[in-house]
Amino acid sequence: MTKSIQVTNPATGELIREIPADTEEEIHQALKRGHEYFQEWRKVNAHERSRLLKAWSEKIQNNKETIAEVMTLESGKPIQESLGEVNYATSYIDWYAEEAKRLYGRTIPAASETKRIIVSKQPVGLVAAITPWNFPAAMMTRKAAPALAAGCTFIVKPAEETPLTTMKFIELAYEVGIPESAVQVVNGRGSDVGPLFTASDFVRKITFTGSTPVGKSLIKNSADTVKHVSMELGGHAPLIVAADADIDVAVDQTIASKFRNAGQTCICANRVIVHDSIAEEFAKKLTEKVKRLKVGNGLEKDTQVGPVINEKGYDKIVSQINDAIDQGAEVLCGNQYHADKEQGYFFVYPTVLQNVDVGMKIMHEETFGPVIPITLFKEIDKAVEIANSTPFGLAAYFFTNNYKVGAYLHDYLDFGVIGWNDGAPSAAHAPFGGMKESGLGREGGVEGIEPYLETKYLSVGL
Ligand code: SIN
Repeated sequence: MTKSIQVTNPATGELIREIPADTEEEIHQALKRGHEYFQEWRKVNAHERSRLLKAWSEKIQNNKETIAEVMTLESGKPIQESLGEVNYATSYIDWYAEEAKRLYGRTIPAASETKRIIVSKQPVGLVAAITPWNFPAAMMTRKAAPALAAGCTFIVKPAEETPLTTMKFIELAYEVGIPESAVQVVNGRGSDVGPLFTASDFVRKITFTGSTPVGKSLIKNSADTVKHVSMELGGHAPLIVAADADIDVAVDQTIASKFRNAGQTCICANRVIVHDSIAEEFAKKLTEKVKRLKVGNGLEKDTQVGPVINEKGYDKIVSQINDAIDQGAEVLCGNQYHADKEQGYFFVYPTVLQNVDVGMKIMHEETFGPVIPITLFKEIDKAVEIANSTPFGLAAYFFTNNYKVGAYLHDYLDFGVIGWNDGAPSAAHAPFGGMKESGLGREGGVEGIEPYLETKYLSVGL
């Protein structure tokens, strides 16, 4: 197991802080503490849990600027996006502070006068979460808030790249009186901590946001102790622009979807599939706007696209662009870089590619970078076929003002989150999650607390 974690600034490569990694024994003790304290926390009444969550959210908002700066330093995302993420993160806490008070059961009419049937909900137990670097605040709170609201205790292992935001959030939770054994953070490499979480009898549920291969191994390793699992995994979102679309709306929303966090989101558009009758106008308008995006250090207020997280991410993006160009794609803008492997910073300039073919790597591997590949279609069925030809099923987008085309696309696109004339569908009050190899379970909305609850049924004989 690694002994320490070096947190660096992706915009400069500079070391921000070195933090100790938890040892196996420390992680075991933290899990034991969370498991034992569950028996206390589940007894805290729902209104009190709700009050504590509200106080946590308020405290985070009061520290918003400091947190956003830490987030930008460790993740590279533009400061405006970090501020937005703090709001997004607290919106989950606010939503589940309310849901804590709505953990309703029900009664079922019995088949005999001498029986009564009552269904109630109870928390699953200790929840262990592993969270990603691309949204170090919001991906944590959308797990922690429903868990705590439901009466579960919670332990999180943040990504090695971005532990500081999470540590700050947990520190603020303690400051408002959320007990230290109810919510805990441990640090370490995913490959060290993941197996400790999945092997532990203390953990009743694993929740993870990250890559599909890691998600699959967490599911497999959770089987021996039959844990609950929620998985928010990779994506490869198609974005379809139909012949009748409002092209200006489609262009703006494509940019909003694609360049958020430098294209490093699981739901960002990864394949742009445009009707050939409007392709030229769409590509021209898109390229004009993409060229104007300001690339730079996220701490500078006007930066719109920051660095990518690390060398591995950068190499993947560059190899997808090169593969597309080698196979005949045309570069409309971008394919420029500002990177230094020695120093450890990696910027990819927003890139638009046309004449992209479905056989190219970029059309089936998740890119996680600021690149838009454009491919064309003539018949709407073909667009659906291209869109669905992936093992992923997280998010999809389409642009049309024809309600019949819209209804058809909604019905036949196999994705859990769909934006119709909308490139930014995420919200704390809506169920987020994927189909197929993009995951299991939903986060957000009324659906997002269900995975933290067991259903118990009582049959009373009178
Ligand atoms: C993600 O897909 O990485 C999360 C983004 C979101 O919640 O909008």
